[in-house]
Amino acid sequence: MECVKKRASHSGVCGRYKMDLYLQIRKMGINMKTKITELLGIEYPIIQGGMAWVAEYHLAAAVSEAGGLGIIGAGGAPASFVREQIQKAKELTKKPFGVNVMLMNPEADEIAKVVVEEGVKVVTTGAGNPGKYMAMWKEAGIKVIPVVASVGLAKMMERAGADAVVAEGTESGGHIGSATTMTLVPQVVDAVSIPVIAAGGIADGRGFAAAMMLGADAVQMGTRFLVAKECTVHENYKQKVIAAKDIDSAVTGMSNGHPVRQIRNKLTREYLQLEKEGASLEEMEKLTLGSLRKAVVEGDVVTGTIMAGQIAGMVSKEQTCKEMIEEIMSEAEKLLKL
Ligand SMILES: Cc1cc2nc3c(=O)[nH]c(=O)nc-3n(C[C@H](O)[C@H](O)[C@H](O)COP(=O)(O)O)c2cc1C
Repeated sequence: MECVKKRASHSGVCGRYKMDLYLQIRKMGINMKTKITELLGIEYPIIQGGMAWVAEYHLAAAVSEAGGLGIIGAGGAPASFVREQIQKAKELTKKPFGVNVMLMNPEADEIAKVVVEEGVKVVTTGAGNPGKYMAMWKEAGIKVIPVVASVGLAKMMERAGADAVVAEGTESGGHIGSATTMTLVPQVVDAVSIPVIAAGGIADGRGFAAAMMLGADAVQMGTRFLVAKECTVHENYKQKVIAAKDIDSAVTGMSNGHPVRQIRNKLTREYLQLEKEGASLEEMEKLTLGSLRKAVVEGDVVTGTIMAGQIAGMVSKEQTCKEMIEEIMSEAEKLLKL
């Protein structure tokens, strides 16, 4: 993508120069190498976001096998379960994959050690500051990539020794910040010198190309991979994502500082009503306790949490991870050529 970015910065050059450059690029083909493909040893700069309950070893291994980077979502799972998931993924792929460590997990200390013991190559982190694990992970050669929703946090993570950051916009499914992908990514790119991965609202070649133009070196997608054939999420969940329109997501938890984007259903209506009435956190938590598992595993899409992003409106069919990645890359390649 280096050539693409250089080209974008030469938009005012004369026709002759453009033609030379065009011929040169046609001869080379688009170089899909970016700082992230180099850093992680992957073929395509597409990362599958760690997703609690959803991103288990089948999905992670399939994305890695397809040339992207698959990530197992540790979520709130015990360390023994995470170890098992890693070992199963290793049976399915020899390519690098990662683990997303939710720092609020009560067994986060244990999981931090498990990823070292199991030789995991990449760790992404959510919900906090991974500072206390950084030295141990770096010593083990693990690439550490925190997910951030602000410039301030991105700078802090760079200072703490992160290898890259995922700049995640509010369009994303799951726990979110307030800045949009369009505004957050270029500001983070300007603020740090480590590579930036764009996340939030990206699900096709157009989104991929736009992220590259904003200065990102890769994209992370969650919502599109929810409907991958290899994703073991309940069929009812997949159908909700496929049926969703552009404005079918709701954000619960704005009033208590834990905003979560998900598809509207009975649960979100009741939760939002409780927020309106100024209910206590305990009352609200009663509704959501175990609710993601309920939707993902049991297929309860009425009282379960169907986390998905705004881009669900564009996600319309089940495909293999390989088909998704190849489609995105070929679409992006056409768009990024002169
Ligand atoms: C069902 C679901 C669960 C998620 N769980 C996590 C998580 O446990 N940790 C995390 O860092 N991000 C989590 N995310 C965010 C994704 O990793 C990814 O950054 C996000 O989905 C990208 O935006 P998109 O949904 O618009 O593609 C989750 C997203 C979804 C849809």
